[in-house]
Amino acid sequence: MSEETIDMNRIPASVAIIMDGNGRWAKRRHFPRIAGHKRGMNVVEEITTEASDLGVKVLTLYAFSTENWKRPEGEVSYIMSLPSTFFNKFIPKLIKNNVRVETIGDITKLPAKTREAVDNAIEDTRNCTGMILNFALNYGSRLEILNATKNIASKVKNGTLNINDIDEDIFSNNLETSGLPDPDLLIRTSGEERISNFLLWQIAYSELVFVDKMWPEYHAEDFKQTIIDFQNRHRRFGGLVNK
Ligand code: FPP
Repeated sequence: MSEETIDMNRIPASVAIIMDGNGRWAKRRHFPRIAGHKRGMNVVEEITTEASDLGVKVLTLYAFSTENWKRPEGEVSYIMSLPSTFFNKFIPKLIKNNVRVETIGDITKLPAKTREAVDNAIEDTRNCTGMILNFALNYGSRLEILNATKNIASKVKNGTLNINDIDEDIFSNNLETSGLPDPDLLIRTSGEERISNFLLWQIAYSELVFVDKMWPEYHAEDFKQTIIDFQNRHRRFGGLVNK
């Protein structure tokens, strides 16, 4: 671990994480893959608490992609059981920490019990005003972009929007992340360096940090180090001037 410390005045407001490596973590230990997801769920709790303590405003976690349905049925149903386990245990702490749960992705396609757990968590935390914990569940960025395009096209067709008025703000406002700040920092664990259909529009100017550790072994101290790495980058947003 480095000697550097976090600059609390430059905490990224919006952080997105691709939580990768649960299966490999388990396999290396000769555990079933679902043991990795179980451990991964505990890490979600740890990183959520740390992010909220540090003052992150929005934490978006890629929990299940539109492509993840292709996994074996047993694994899918295990992942689908995690939200209710997670929220049953963690809702009081989320409320105590003033964290509000939101989602992106088509949660109407989730099994009824999973959806109920997610809906209850959103409802139970609706008055919290601190960090937004945004779960991407049955989420895919290309689908989100297509849906935004269809929405905008139908407004043009019915005359409520002029084609020349379509700009980046209008496009952003038609995405599922409407109203949320774009990620300042995108983290992917497990050493893979891919975006995997996550927040393609929103990460246009994000700093991308790829971490070698598997998600189940990524802890609060690692998250702090990732933020230090982020703070050592010089964001220019296409310009020449630093900051
Ligand atoms: C990627 O690892 C992980 C997933 C597809 C599932 C992520 C889910 C969690 C971390 C738990 C979610 C918790 C809640 C509360 C919803 P992988 O299985 O692709 O790993 P691999 O690449 O090593 O096979």
